Amino acid sequence: MATYQDVYRRSRDNPQGFWRTAAYAIDWDVAPSEILDDRLAPLYRWYPDAVLNTCYNALDRHVERGRGEQAALIYDSPVTETVRSYSYRELRDEVAVLAGALRSLGVTKGDRVVIYMPMIPETAMAMLACSRIGAVHSVVFGGFAANELATRIDDAKPKVVLSASCGIEPGRVVEYKPLLDRAIELSSHKPNHSVVFQRPELLAEMNQPNDLDWVELTASSEPAACVPVSATDPLYILYTSGTTGVPKGVVRDNGGHAVALAWSMKNLYGAEPGDVYWAASDVGWVVGHSYIVYGPLIHGCTSVLYEGKPVGTPDPGAFWRVISQHGVSVLFTAPTAFRAIRRDDPQASHLERYDLSSLETLFLAGERCDPDTLHWAERVLGVPVIDHWWQTETGWPVACNPMGIEPLAVKPGSPAVAVPGYDIRVLDDDGQEVDPNQIGAVVLKLPLPPGTLPTLWNADDRYRQAYLERYPGYYLTSDAGFVDEDGYLSIMSRIDDIINVAGHRLSTGAIEEVLAEHPDVAECAVIGVADELKGQLPMGFVVLQAGTQRDAADLSEELVQMVRNRIGPVAAFKQVAVVTRLPKTRSGKILRSTMRKVADGDDWSMPATIDDPLILDEIGEALGSLGYPRGDDAKAVL
Ligand code: COA
Ligand code: AMP
Repeated sequence: MATYQDVYRRSRDNPQGFWRTAAYAIDWDVAPSEILDDRLAPLYRWYPDAVLNTCYNALDRHVERGRGEQAALIYDSPVTETVRSYSYRELRDEVAVLAGALRSLGVTKGDRVVIYMPMIPETAMAMLACSRIGAVHSVVFGGFAANELATRIDDAKPKVVLSASCGIEPGRVVEYKPLLDRAIELSSHKPNHSVVFQRPELLAEMNQPNDLDWVELTASSEPAACVPVSATDPLYILYTSGTTGVPKGVVRDNGGHAVALAWSMKNLYGAEPGDVYWAASDVGWVVGHSYIVYGPLIHGCTSVLYEGKPVGTPDPGAFWRVISQHGVSVLFTAPTAFRAIRRDDPQASHLERYDLSSLETLFLAGERCDPDTLHWAERVLGVPVIDHWWQTETGWPVACNPMGIEPLAVKPGSPAVAVPGYDIRVLDDDGQEVDPNQIGAVVLKLPLPPGTLPTLWNADDRYRQAYLERYPGYYLTSDAGFVDEDGYLSIMSRIDDIINVAGHRLSTGAIEEVLAEHPDVAECAVIGVADELKGQLPMGFVVLQAGTQRDAADLSEELVQMVRNRIGPVAAFKQVAVVTRLPKTRSGKILRSTMRKVADGDDWSMPATIDDPLILDEIGEALGSLGYPRGDDAKAVL
């Protein structure tokens, strides 16, 4: 058996040979002869002369090779009390007809389709239908507001938007159609059609001239065959928070993506074809793209699509129920889900009702995994708990304990070692590599492996400027951390204004842009403060326009509502303090990191460059009135 070190060395010494071999896991219309195209370096393209279809690899080939009756997708929805399984054959047939429906609307190879949908099987079908005909999908998470959807519609310029009448959150039904209509009203680009899947829980009003009913449309459509595309053609665009309100359109190609995901399913997650794999996330995030839809299906697994929460749907035993009912062997979720379960059921007493013998490994990612949560999960589940680290941009893990190659020792707080294909370095401000255990900017030596972003949608320059220019020859992850003497990575914080709320990536800059638009706000700052459940929560500080008298509670309510309307409920923005001034350096830079330390009760020293030290007293008082600092429990997660 090859060790991790053997495999890693092979990937580093001969990357092209390594990824040539990995490409055998994929069915190609034209197999790759050239592996890496570096002619436009630092922009790279994998498998430049190969041709394939991703949907064929995810569905058709499994049917052709005897997996037709195996479950491909299990839809488990405690919020609608539904469990429904789709075999590979059924899923292929549904997807083929939906692809035919899209084609009948004039969608062809290279056209974009925005998918604004909840966690229902039709969402996965929509993604696969796009890939079947070579269309480029862009899924927008349901927790985003109309404005965010409009920004994405304007950037992606879709021919068609696929949507559903509603999503279901505990305690409320989220009406998608009015949000979609509003987004199209706000956007300059107008899609030709909105195709809406009517859910029985709430029927949408089909009141726009270009509205089409999903079921009616597909009932009259012919199945479409898979369209071969170039390995370097885009499969999807997934928007993620940048440092401004304008999200970045991360592009994923077809060929490198298929190869990398197939490789990761076996070598990182230790999954075999036929296994039941469950990523408890949302298809709106990269985890959902890679490990609810494409990864498990390309690998021939059964994937669970879960429309529910870890707690409250109906209780903190929900995850255990799903594992035992469907025989899940690999579970992947964010640490926050386990913190929520532990908060509601510290003794894990709900476990007693279920047989979890199928479960082999729990993988956690999306945010830093606090050792306390890791240990609790290990103790109650009795299986390895693996923290691993990656980003929307990379599309698959960068650091991981490679369970399918060789399980390594677990070091709590560390997502373990570099995944074969990635060369992780830690640099100081001058671009010099730091010694082991020294914190610096975590970067990845170029070229990145297959499956990672080749660029940003229609924005090569922004891609270079945001990721490649800071340290030439390296991709900037924007995470800070260190590597220890054994090669184990620890991620400590972000070096930009991104915060991580319940495993969701948010830009504080984008929230500030919304607050600044309120007529009574002269200036503002948003920071991420430690939270016991969600890891971080955004908190706003606003200074009123001169001469403005406002009741602080009323103003806060307006600001919270503005952020909810403009960015969406997912921002979880609920706390605002009104202050007379913001702490700044003499050159006018807001001292956000000092404010964060005050909020979290961390040690901090008065910055030498502060223009007025007394302002921090007022910030401390404002935080005190909101109940901060929250004490060691909240900070333990950071
Ligand atoms: N559509 C509409 N609204 C949504 C939504 C969606 N798809 N997803 C979340 N929201 C809303 C929530 O209802 C909540 O609204 P509220 O302010 O009215 O209560 C708000 O967005 C904030 O959501 P969240 O931060 O997720 O908080 P929560 O209290 O609903 O749930 C957890 C907390 C920990 C249970 C939840 O975050 C969770 O299950 N996380 C699992 C991990 C995960 O999915 N990570 C993603 C990357 S792996
Ligand atoms: P996203 O692009 O939404 O997946 O968010 C990626 C970011 O989440 C990373 O850049 C990290 O800041 C953070 N993150 C993801 N996984 C981990 C992890 N295992 N440990 C620490 N931080 C993580």
